Amino acid sequence: MTRPSPAPSVRAETLSVAMLGAGTVGRAVAEWMLGQPDRLVSADGGGVTLVAVAVRDLERAREAGIRGDLLTDAPAHLVADPGTDVVIEVMGGDEPARTLIMAALRAGKAVVTANKHVIAHHGPDLEVAARLTGAALRFEAAVAGGIPVLGTLAGDLAANDIQRVRGIVNGTTNYILTAMAEDGRPYDEVLEDAQELGYAEADPTGDVEGDDAVNKLVILARLAFGLWLAPATVGRRPPTARGDGTPGITGVTDQELEGAAALGLTIKLLATATRRDGVIEASVIPTAVPADSPFGWTDGVTNRIEIDAEPLGTLGLSGPGAGGPATSSAILGDLLAIARGFGSTWAGLPEATGPAVAAADPFDGRRHWFAFLPAVRPGPLPDALDEAAAVGFEDGTAIRSEVVTLAEAKAAFAAILPDGVDVTLYPVDD
Ligand SMILES: NC(=O)c1ccc[n+]([C@@H]2O[C@H](COP(=O)([O-])OP(=O)(O)OC[C@H]3O[C@@H](n4cnc5c(N)ncnc54)[C@H](OP(=O)(O)O)[C@@H]3O)[C@@H](O)[C@H]2O)c1
Repeated sequence: MTRPSPAPSVRAETLSVAMLGAGTVGRAVAEWMLGQPDRLVSADGGGVTLVAVAVRDLERAREAGIRGDLLTDAPAHLVADPGTDVVIEVMGGDEPARTLIMAALRAGKAVVTANKHVIAHHGPDLEVAARLTGAALRFEAAVAGGIPVLGTLAGDLAANDIQRVRGIVNGTTNYILTAMAEDGRPYDEVLEDAQELGYAEADPTGDVEGDDAVNKLVILARLAFGLWLAPATVGRRPPTARGDGTPGITGVTDQELEGAAALGLTIKLLATATRRDGVIEASVIPTAVPADSPFGWTDGVTNRIEIDAEPLGTLGLSGPGAGGPATSSAILGDLLAIARGFGSTWAGLPEATGPAVAAADPFDGRRHWFAFLPAVRPGPLPDALDEAAAVGFEDGTAIRSEVVTLAEAKAAFAAILPDGVDVTLYPVDD
């Protein structure tokens, strides 16, 4: 009996990958791609191979362990090279990252990026370009590091009616708030420590003023609600009794955290996007949450995102939101998704509109409000404030309001403040 001769072997395609950047994230990606090639194989046996890495300082990259034969200081050449199938952008910043991503998409090359700034600020243009050439643009790593939240929204939850997405999405600010709450130390001191430990950048503005969390919220909203919000329209200032506070966590004090703790609360920087009556309300605001709750337990650089959807209910995703290894996990997953032909992060969803304006007043409705009134010992409280939720300290009083509108809370707190004194009103998330 003659055996049938084996079918001629079809060599599955191997994708050539060029990476722009080899810092915290890029180094972790390169290490896994070069060290674990067998993990990066699609079902038909096709692989993905790292063929080049662009940096500015070749010597520094070599010293950091990137193979010298891969290195170049000409990222545009890598993007233009006909041999490049996929571009991983992990340089960060606006330019030249935006131009390089756009050039790759226009040339029909797939792009994987961790750059939340570029995706949030140039998402509408990049989506048009990617759809025009059919190139895949994937950016799971741009939100919450290793937590697979974008794929979950775009894929597993695609049939749901998503009503709200909210989360702790910035590890730096969560580290600072956690350390202030646990150690009772002031903001400036903890920020300095965070910079020394590498948890905060030398210029921490983008994190502490909330821009980074706004970028992530814009990307979450794209997948949840099908539009690109203009980042500048997302509220970042908590209200005060007499006006608006400072952006992000820059106004949070250790006294406020101590006062919140006495009422069973803690303060977290919550990014929230809600769909109400066809409008998207979006804000990144320090918010008082029950200390004994999943958001309250989310400490340090951990991230947590909760999605409220019909018919699902509420889904919570927690995990490592930053760092080379966790972020590389999302990038490597995106690479494999491209090798498997899954398309862009939004694949299968309708084309997004944008840029759209987020609703100006994210504090519609009635809720509890929390404030710490330094050096104030109020007499009888106005009706809108809860006598049973007022705790006196040597240096002030922590008070939670009844369930009231923002206007009612402002009037009640202003009524017991001395002239010229103002305090932040933190929405309480029950
Ligand atoms: N770090 C995290 O935990 C994390 C988490 C999620 C997302 N991300 C995002 O991932 C991206 C990278 O972050 P990272 O922390 O890895 O940054 P990083 O440590 O500062 O590294 C940036 C890398 O890009 C290179 N680079 C920058 N500008 C360049 C240019 N014009 N030409 C060539 N190379 C250039 C740098 O090269 P030189 O060193 O030679 O200057 C360096 O290798 C950012 O978009 C960030 O937002 C980071």
